[in-house]
Formats: sequence, structure tokens, C-alpha cells
Amino acid sequence: MLIKTNTSGFDHPNSSEITPQAIYQGRRELIKLMATGAAGAALASWAGRQALAQTPPKPGKLAALPGGKSAVVGAVTLEKITDYKLATSYNNFYEFGTDKADPGKNAHILVTKPWSVAVEGLVRQPKIWTLEDLLKLSPQEERIYRLRCVEGWSMVIPWVGYSLSELIKKVEPLGSAKYVEFVTLADPKTMPYVGSRVLEWPYVEGLRMDEAMHPLALLTFGMYGEVLPNQNGAPVRMVLPWKYGFKSGKSIVNIRFTDKEPRTAWNKAAASEYGFYSNVNPAVDHPRWSQATERRIGEDGLFAKRRKTLMFNGYEAQVAQLYAGMDLKKLF
Ligand code: MTE
Repeated sequence: MLIKTNTSGFDHPNSSEITPQAIYQGRRELIKLMATGAAGAALASWAGRQALAQTPPKPGKLAALPGGKSAVVGAVTLEKITDYKLATSYNNFYEFGTDKADPGKNAHILVTKPWSVAVEGLVRQPKIWTLEDLLKLSPQEERIYRLRCVEGWSMVIPWVGYSLSELIKKVEPLGSAKYVEFVTLADPKTMPYVGSRVLEWPYVEGLRMDEAMHPLALLTFGMYGEVLPNQNGAPVRMVLPWKYGFKSGKSIVNIRFTDKEPRTAWNKAAASEYGFYSNVNPAVDHPRWSQATERRIGEDGLFAKRRKTLMFNGYEAQVAQLYAGMDLKKLF
């Protein structure tokens, strides 16, 4: 991310070649909109037409991870879901290489079974959770979220998981716990770039406690109705749709509750470019490029228009109160 953006030689298909994912999205949203009465007739019929116009999704061949419908406000967008193939072949997962195509090529050697996550630090109930126990902790929900990368591209993905707050409540943080740190796997045997100097390993991310407790913060086990592909952070990752993608740590092995702001991997690599908060903010440029617009993956081609990036990636109504009174230019 720091190093290069589009030098991978990875070819995007034309938008006309992409198999749309979203017949179920369209139906689901239509049903949801109708159930909540949130949509006007015009919107509903638009969604209905979209549903009819799109062919069925083409997920991969991984184990199913069925999620019920999300009850979380802000979890659904009417935008077209990114093609599964693109979402699983254009990735940032530097442990497997810095080229967007590397994780898709190299991550098959990641061993995800058995897997456990040590939850520790300032909590009353520290515990090593097996993946199976984590999966059982709360019902899985499907949440359609935008993910906006700091590099200026975005995707729309149906993630499967539950709010991280479910786990946090279970482990009973102490009053002194102000931050949550996520440590991800750093296994030099299976991850060819661990040991390289591109980042300090393991990859570490962090959130303030109130951010971590926000219902949109998703502890994620799957996407497109299946378990996570390795390149997307199997078997468990975070997805924080209002923050730049790098805040969403992949293949998490440790969740620590602390009283100090965690030093995160990208902040250590370039503090002037990647702050602790990293909220999607079109008004605050990256020192080397504008953040005002973005390219939606799958919408390429000569005449494809860049989209305007939305404040908090479009989740402003849900999350803005977390940052009330803060100078977001300084605390970027
Ligand atoms: N997690 C780990 N462990 N290592 C990484 O290099 N890259 C981050 C984030 N999580 C990264 C990571 C970045 S920069 C982005 S944009 C997202 O993962 C990409 O997630 P995706 O490949 O599912 O789109």
C-alpha cells in the first residue's frame, strides 16, 4: 500500500465481462426495505428491477457459512456487490506479497485449522477461544458493507459474522481498558513476506474501546455465504466499514485490551501517512494523494467514472457521534 498501487500487471476484466453477484442482494434488500417501510415505492421498484436484471452470484467452493439477515442499521447498500472473483484476487495481505495478485496465488498454504484467538489483557475473563467456540458465541449475520482502501479503490462485499461487541461483552473488560489491539498471524513458514522489511511483523491494528463496541464493527468469519478465503483473512478477521481497509486486520490470533493506544503496523511504517484513526474522510488527503474520490473495483474501462468518497465511507449517520468534537484533520 505504501509502496505501489497499480504496478501489479493484474488485469481487471471489463465491466461487461463481470458476472454480477447480486440477485440475492437485490431480493434481500427489497424485502428488507419493504419490511421496514424505509423505502419509497420508486426505490423499491428500482431494487426489484435490479434483482431481476442480475444473474445469480457465483461464490467459490468453500464451506457454507450461512448468515441470517442483519438487523444492524447501515449494513446494507443498494450498490452492486463486487464480483466474487475480483474480491478474492485483488487483495492486500502483505504477509503473502505486496502485489494485489499475490495473496490469491500464495495464501493457499496458510493453515487455518486448528485456529484459536487469545483474548487477554485488561479483562475479567481472559481466554483462548477456539474458532469453533467463537463461531458458536453469537448468530452469524450477513452484512453488505463497502470497504474503501486507503489507496483509492473500494468494493461492496456481503460479509458474514457478528458484532465484535458480542465477544467484548463476554470477556468483561476492566474499567481501565481503553483500547483493543488486534494481532494477526506472523508465521514465517507459511507466509513468505513475514521477515521482509516491508512492515514490522506481526501486523497489528487497534481501535478505541467505543469504536470496538460499535455495532457496525464486524468480527468476520465469512463472505458470500461461505467461510473466508485465505487471501481475505481466514479464518477470522475484522471489518470496519467506516475506516480505511487496512484497519481491518486479517487472520487474527490475539485480541488484547489495553490502556494505551496500540502502535499499529502502518503507523509504525509511516506515521505521517497512516494515523491511528484512519477514518474514511474525503476532506483529509493522504500526504501523497487525494482521498476525495475512489474507483469501484469491477467498474473499470475507459469511461468509468470515479465515485465521490463519502464521509465515513457513507456510514456517517451511524458513527459520526464517536468523533464529536475531535479535530479529524489532526487525528486522521
Ligand atoms: N491484514 C493483515 N494481516 N495483513 C495485511 O497486509 N492489509 C489490509 C487489511 N488487513 C492487511 C490486513 C489492507 S491494506 C486492506 S485494504 C484490507 O485488508 C484488504 O482486505 P481484502 O483483501 O479482503 O479486500
